[in-house]
Amino acid sequence: MIITIANHKGGVGKTTSVLTMAHLMHLAGVSVNVVDLDAPSTERLAGAAASFRRAKFIGIPAYTLQNLPKGVKGHVLIDGPPDMADPGLKKALKASQLVLIPTTLSFDDLEVSKAFYQGIEAKRKLLLFTQVHHFQQRQLDKKRLALRAEGFNLSDTVIPRLELFPKASELKTTVAGITTKQGRKATEPYAQLVKELFS
Ligand SMILES: Nc1ncnc2c1ncn2[C@@H]1O[C@H](COP(=O)(O)OP(=O)(O)OP(=O)(O)O)[C@@H](O)[C@H]1O
Ligand SMILES: [Mg+2]
Repeated sequence: MIITIANHKGGVGKTTSVLTMAHLMHLAGVSVNVVDLDAPSTERLAGAAASFRRAKFIGIPAYTLQNLPKGVKGHVLIDGPPDMADPGLKKALKASQLVLIPTTLSFDDLEVSKAFYQGIEAKRKLLLFTQVHHFQQRQLDKKRLALRAEGFNLSDTVIPRLELFPKASELKTTVAGITTKQGRKATEPYAQLVKELFS
């Protein structure tokens, strides 16, 4: 399956979602490739944030859209650019069976995310809530109901706000294998997301 993770809004968790899902699948022995639509320019300009470099560091095959082999083996997760007008995005959306649109609950993020959802053509689209604080549960429930009533498709999985990510970014890896202070796997919600999308 080819999945593009994209949103016009930056900083919503696109790269984190792509890399964490890919890392979990890779550790489980599932063949997965990462495509970074910004690479190699982002890799040069923005450095460590590029999923291209980090996927390679973890041992996952990483490509740009241009050098993706035609008969690529395994699943492909495409990290989209934070720009709706990006020329590569259209190609990625066309090639994908699913487009995942991460968004936080913030009003501004959600407005951009909804516009992005409605502005793109895709076989299947899902809004994915990320970085949700535990005190936002009621707001989340209300928002999900309202969005569904407006006709938006949402993933069942919600990614909570996890405090471990900045550390993972520094280490240029993901939080796969890291356990929280409460003894829970930091990647639990991402594992759930993989299960939801791939089964
Ligand atoms: N569930 C989460 N909990 C806590 N922090 C998170 C979570 N997901 C992402 N972050 C942090 O939020 C920031 C933005 O995440 P990320 O880089 O994945 O977003 P992005 O959409 O790829 O951004 P960009 O548009 O800049 O490429 C990063 O510092 C990341 O570590
Ligand atoms: Mg990113």
